Amino acid sequence: MDVYHLSMECFPVAKVGGLADVVGALPKYQNKLQGVTARVVIPWYNKPYVQNGNFETVFDGYIYQAPNQLRVHVLKEENDTLGFELYLVQVPGLLDRDNPYGYHDESYQFLAFQHAVLHWLATAKIRPDVLHCHDYHTGLVPFMIENCPEFYFLKGVKTIGTIHNGEYQGQMRWEMLDYFPWIDGSTDLRILDWDGYINPLATMIKCCHAFNAVSGGYLAELYQNFRGLENLVQQEHQKAFGIINGIDTEVWDPVTDMYLDDNFSAANAGQGKWENKKKLCAEYGLNPDLPLFGFIGRFAAEKGADLLPDIVVQSIQQTNGALNIIILGSGESHTENRLSELAMIFSNFALDLGYKEYLSHKIYASADFLLMPSRVEPCGLNQMYAMRYGTVPIVRYTGGLRDTVQDISTGGAGLNFGEATADAAVHAMKRAVHIYHDHELMQHLISTNMNFDFSWDKSAGNYVDLYRK
Ligand code: ADP
Ligand code: GLC
Repeated sequence: MDVYHLSMECFPVAKVGGLADVVGALPKYQNKLQGVTARVVIPWYNKPYVQNGNFETVFDGYIYQAPNQLRVHVLKEENDTLGFELYLVQVPGLLDRDNPYGYHDESYQFLAFQHAVLHWLATAKIRPDVLHCHDYHTGLVPFMIENCPEFYFLKGVKTIGTIHNGEYQGQMRWEMLDYFPWIDGSTDLRILDWDGYINPLATMIKCCHAFNAVSGGYLAELYQNFRGLENLVQQEHQKAFGIINGIDTEVWDPVTDMYLDDNFSAANAGQGKWENKKKLCAEYGLNPDLPLFGFIGRFAAEKGADLLPDIVVQSIQQTNGALNIIILGSGESHTENRLSELAMIFSNFALDLGYKEYLSHKIYASADFLLMPSRVEPCGLNQMYAMRYGTVPIVRYTGGLRDTVQDISTGGAGLNFGEATADAAVHAMKRAVHIYHDHELMQHLISTNMNFDFSWDKSAGNYVDLYRK
């Protein structure tokens, strides 16, 4: 079975968040299963992985995106080091940028990517068994292959849509229809419509053969609250599935992780984590004897990042400084500014603004607790990385966090809280401080968390079962 994953991100080529981790790992695990060949197609990026890599051009052609003819190159990585064939689609002027998102013309970029991929496959007579579309950026593919004569060769190919984040749907004004590949005159254009806009995510749900959310918990929430698409997902419930993400346990392994000062396994985690923590605390001027709470992520409302300044102040004040907090992330400027001010005031609080892959690994390994006060969390990978590194997750009870973290009070090895408020988070952190001082319980939580199996082995198979269905 030939599967092509279409995405804007893929670790380690281009990563903004969890989408990259999923697309960089799921195909690798699928390729370990019998009878499956999974490949990945993403845009070409001006990134070190690409510049330093070994790529050959496998396709050279043109697409028409009114009023221009656009050149398309498809490059394939020569030595298959990632565990899957990787293809990069380059369209000079649109798909040759530094980053996946954040450009004023991103709707054109995403349209050009989808058009170029399908043009390449149809022209080169490559007919996959499954096209697996990730998020709204590739959500028009199921529509295009059925309704654009240019892709006639692909008609009938099975399509799966994965919703990593339903908060973003890619709405476009109808004028954008001019930039689509030519659409068959008999097509009912209402397929593209949701509430007066072209909505790529809604179109994906309508046109794909099956779609899934990245956890069962999140799928259940989408029926109630999906930024206006609740009715649609209810109507299409027969093709809706929840498949929880896994993690790449080869990349994320405290035994071999090259970013760690001291590697450790479940057998010597107490000592190993302590060595890492001492070094990290020394670097950031924190006291290693106090419990260390980490937060890693985008400063966005979904992540509850706007609550962090109050969480920092209240947790330090209410415990009389009996804890440390380290935050790694960037995003909304208001949050960045307030946290920067607090880092100057509180010696128990360290802030590192930016995106630093190596530091995230060090924090997962060194922290005692990882805080995730998310308002919305379709799956969340941070809590799973934390657990794999023996760090106790403290999460708001929502989406994928509900499915992966069980509270200690009900037999689990993490902490949950209900409301997305600073008060609720701080209450949970105070529970955590007590737990920290119960040495035996803490050791039990560390080893229990490290022994959970979150690897992709199971979910990679669940996707293949869905393809087969
Ligand atoms: P999302 O995709 O919504 O941001 P996930 O929990 O699925 O959330 O995945 C986030 C991924 O991005 C994880 O691999 C996490 O370690 C990483 N990450 C987030 N922010 C940073 C940062 N500032 N520096 C390094 N890694 C980060
Ligand atoms: C999105 C979600 C996150 C999920 C990730 C990978 O970015 O916000 O919860 O883990 O996609 O599926």
